[in-house]
Amino acid sequence: MWVLGVESSCDETAAAVVDERGHVRSDVVRSQADLHAPYGGVVPELASRDHMRAITVVISEALLRAGAKLGDIDGVAVTARPGLSGALLVGVQVAKGIAWATGLPIVAVDHLVGHLLAVFLKRDETPSAEPPLPFVALLASGGHTAIYRVDEARASAIRELGATRDDAAGEAFDKVAKALGLGYPGGPIVDRLAAEGDASRIRIPSPMARRDSLEFSFSGIKSLVARQVSEHGRPTDPAAVADFCAAFQRAVVRSLVSKTIRAARAEGVAAVVLAGGVAANRGLRAAAAEACAEAGLSLFVPPASSCTDNAAMIAYAGALRLSRGERDDLGFAVSTRTELQRVTRKGGGARRA
Ligand code: KG4
Ligand code: ZN
Repeated sequence: MWVLGVESSCDETAAAVVDERGHVRSDVVRSQADLHAPYGGVVPELASRDHMRAITVVISEALLRAGAKLGDIDGVAVTARPGLSGALLVGVQVAKGIAWATGLPIVAVDHLVGHLLAVFLKRDETPSAEPPLPFVALLASGGHTAIYRVDEARASAIRELGATRDDAAGEAFDKVAKALGLGYPGGPIVDRLAAEGDASRIRIPSPMARRDSLEFSFSGIKSLVARQVSEHGRPTDPAAVADFCAAFQRAVVRSLVSKTIRAARAEGVAAVVLAGGVAANRGLRAAAAEACAEAGLSLFVPPASSCTDNAAMIAYAGALRLSRGERDDLGFAVSTRTELQRVTRKGGGARRA
């Protein structure tokens, strides 16, 4: 079964062809980073308009690279939630148009489920090992940061254990980079500079470190950096900037890793999975590997191309739905919220049942 995946939830226009075993036949991602860079963050209206310009070209390219025509495709999967409404609508309308014109079945996919299942994608001839189920996953991206227990590769068998009360980890990377005048998106830039810096030169405490909960908070650390910059100005010496990045990254990574390990122990699982754009971070990958080895847990980290936004993960999550015989009718709507049940309230604390 070959599935065409379409993704336009934020600032990447993406399309891919993937089979139900996760083999990636093609994977095309067109980033809008340059478009949003002058603003230091995604401008929703600009995102929608750019998706409109790019989407049919990106889909054609994905089919071409897969050596497929629409007639060779068995189903269409599209991100319908969560994301920016206007941006989601572009992908969803085009995917519905394709399904309507060809009579192909279509399924709506939750972007977070796509990220959590991206670890199963097989991008080359000798794919890396798959994590055993159940596993605990840390999903850290620009819009979401949470820990999940994944019992099966389907949305109804995924449970949130704890999430951020305020900013997502990726958002903190982007905002700190903006405060330091480093560019957008901030994650990869901070990652690169942190490798050259000395984290011990600046004291930035790890947020929510003493709390037993599996909740995160990244707005305090962002404000701390903003305050330092407004009081002392942006550091100009490259070594000082690198030290700043290293200290900030270490604080965020410590929080992410310690809570993920705690969750994996409490759930009694054998495996930990990293997902989302921040999982591309080299400091996070290294710290997670060390902590998992110490705790006797196996760590599974997808390649960076599977961590950041892409349509292959959407096609795969959709292929699993389609192979179970699931279909959506053409009337489905987009939503800014995930379908996964949440246990953490934005603004703080556990949700009441
Ligand atoms: O998953 P993703 O591509 O899009 C969302 O669904 O949000 O994640 C994008 C986020 C951005 O905030 C970006 O700065 C961050 O992931 N990111 C990184 C790295 N690469 C991307 N953060 C830290 N280190 C990286 N290497
Ligand atoms: Zn994402």
